Amino acid sequence: MCGIFGYCNYLVERSRGEIVDTLVEGLQRLEYRGYDSTGIAIDGDEPDSTLIYRQIGKVSALIKEIESKNPNRDVTFVSHCGIAHTRWATHGEPKQINCHPQRSDPNNDFVIVHNGIITNFRELKTLLQNKGYKFESDTDTECIAKLFKHIYDTNLTNGVELDFHELTKLVLLELEGSYGLLCKSSHYPGEVIATRKGSPLLIGVKSERKLKVDFVDVEFADENIGQPETPLVENNNALSTKQRNFTEQQGESTLLPIAANEFNLRHSQSRAFLSEDGAPNPIEFFLSSDASSVVKHTKKVLFLEDDDIAHIYDGELHIHRSRREVGASMTRSIQTLEMELAQIMKGPYTHFMQKEIFEQPESTFNTMRGRIDFDNNSVMLGGLKAWLPAIRRARRIIMIACGTSYHSCLGTRAIFEELSEIPVSVELASDFLDRKSPVFRDDICVFVSQSGETADTMLALNYCLERGALTVGIVNAVGSSISRVTHCGVHINAGPEIGVASTKAYTSQYIALVMLALSLSDDRVSKVERRKEIIQGLKRIPGQIKQVLNLESRIKELCDKELKDQKSLLLLGRGYQFASALEGALKIKEISYMHSEGVLAGELKHGVLALVDEDLPIIAFGTRDSLFPKVVSSIEQVTARKGKPIIICNENDEVWKKKCDKINLVKLEVPQTVDCLQGLLNIIPLQLMSYWLAVNKGIDVDFPRNLAKSVTVE
Ligand code: UD1
Ligand code: F6R
Repeated sequence: MCGIFGYCNYLVERSRGEIVDTLVEGLQRLEYRGYDSTGIAIDGDEPDSTLIYRQIGKVSALIKEIESKNPNRDVTFVSHCGIAHTRWATHGEPKQINCHPQRSDPNNDFVIVHNGIITNFRELKTLLQNKGYKFESDTDTECIAKLFKHIYDTNLTNGVELDFHELTKLVLLELEGSYGLLCKSSHYPGEVIATRKGSPLLIGVKSERKLKVDFVDVEFADENIGQPETPLVENNNALSTKQRNFTEQQGESTLLPIAANEFNLRHSQSRAFLSEDGAPNPIEFFLSSDASSVVKHTKKVLFLEDDDIAHIYDGELHIHRSRREVGASMTRSIQTLEMELAQIMKGPYTHFMQKEIFEQPESTFNTMRGRIDFDNNSVMLGGLKAWLPAIRRARRIIMIACGTSYHSCLGTRAIFEELSEIPVSVELASDFLDRKSPVFRDDICVFVSQSGETADTMLALNYCLERGALTVGIVNAVGSSISRVTHCGVHINAGPEIGVASTKAYTSQYIALVMLALSLSDDRVSKVERRKEIIQGLKRIPGQIKQVLNLESRIKELCDKELKDQKSLLLLGRGYQFASALEGALKIKEISYMHSEGVLAGELKHGVLALVDEDLPIIAFGTRDSLFPKVVSSIEQVTARKGKPIIICNENDEVWKKKCDKINLVKLEVPQTVDCLQGLLNIIPLQLMSYWLAVNKGIDVDFPRNLAKSVTVE
């Protein structure tokens, strides 16, 4: 999982210093996607030369590295393309030689930044090594750069000077796996290629003049024209599966040299960039894995689709595809982002995680905004309206997710079953795939993901699509892969979540799932009262979260004193609160690196009780619901063994008042709400606790070690 960023200016004069600053700032906004090493590639002082700067560590280390190399910042460029990368290692440890951009050769003929994994890189590497290429890194990406050079050089030797996008098509034929990538080359000065398969990539467009149309046409090679010669394809037996499929579709002409009129495409103008008077438009392009790094510069963006090859040159953006698929869109629209820059900045908070915890009164409200009519006790999810009858007919619902998103499914499963009267199973995406769980055409598969890019969830989604199930997404990132590939869904509208630990996405996912359950039951008379109770409960949630956030100083004090220097922590919960216990434990583990475990209170006596003594810190969820007597009894088992649990209970609960006063237990009081919504309030103290435990240890809360914001590798 990595972040890629690119910047192209055309007829907008920029100094090298300005270009470097734009690239570096873009990377800083993408750091949450990975942050073990970074790098940029820009034009050098000599004609057609490329400079690469790379450094391990975060972007701040790269800035120092560039300063130390002291490039002339004053040189100006009227037309220039630079590319940049922030990495989270998948192949090769974080060391300078493994940073991106990766290059084709010591002259930097082709330089690449890549997010994703090339699964056949070993085969490609061997093949290229046999042809004399010397590899310098442990990355899978290096083989892409070398492949570009190899195919370019071989065609040149055969007298064919390939257009950059044609060359890219040939390179992509060889690649298996996933990628979002940018390629820059000294053979194509002022040009850049951006292409994706399974990894997100978008292009921001900034122009003083209004674009003629707000879309870009997709360009296809003329199907009668053969593909240029690809040197790796020497005989049909040597073809990879992908190549073979492609060859079969294309017919025998595949190995013909490039036809002259294919070059005509190079000179066709894209309608969007056509100016009134035929004069070229001054324009800038921002390429990125994520809109949050582009929004400062422009709100006009175009999301690339899988297999699109975007080619930027002479101030124009062209989108090419190898093949014309039946029913596929012939254009890519240039959309206007609604995201504000303020939304992605920290504001008065020290960390994004803290800001996001405190945003929850607003983010939960935004999840419900325009969807719940509190006066009429009704719910309307625009994205699901047309699909509800089909969902109601299902014989079962499978919720599939990872990590925190999985916990939001667990927390809402009971109310889902109660309201929909459809059996619900909740699956961890990786386990679901490992088991090759049976899926049927009449199943409804719900995929919950903050980023919408998590590889395991995405693979499970493809698995369910192949089996004909109806797929529903519950996703935060609009335009993400899961949001686009699912049949329908709900955007949780929590705003960008940048802290690696998921907080506001959890509460918004939880609410979105409850709203989905409410929508499924709106035709059931027997559920009217229960629905009303929940909808009115939801109305109070943002205000109640605000109230719980007032516990911050109390929690900080607990972290400074009782929980300081502890090695381990148990969280006990039952029923709806089992999910809170698991999610609380995950937050504490990932941010403060303290061992913590969420335990189903009913399971205590089956083993875990052996751990309990007067020293082990325990947090118990003792809020009111139908299981309250059982929870009290589980907690008594703990206190009987001299355990001193911190109790999360409802305000002014007499039972806990008496018990806690008697044996001097600490309690954290939260407002009471409807049983199935209580988890929304109970998780807040744990989010704050994980935050302060980590801050006290001096941990960089937004960048916990070994973790990245969205996990786009299996
Ligand atoms: C939509 C608009 C919102 C506008 C509102 C007004 C978008 C993204 N949202 O919100 O800006 O204010 O109409 O009526 O344009 N979808 C999936 N998979 C997912 C998530 C969503 O397929 O994982 C689909 C939905 O089925 C729907 C579309 O994406 O077709 C937008 O979903 P959502 O934003 O939830 O819809 P609305 O709340 O109606
Ligand atoms: C924990 C956390 C992760 C994610 C998980 C799934 O704080 O953030 O456990 O919840 O990686 O990510 P998404 O929701 O993006 O699919």
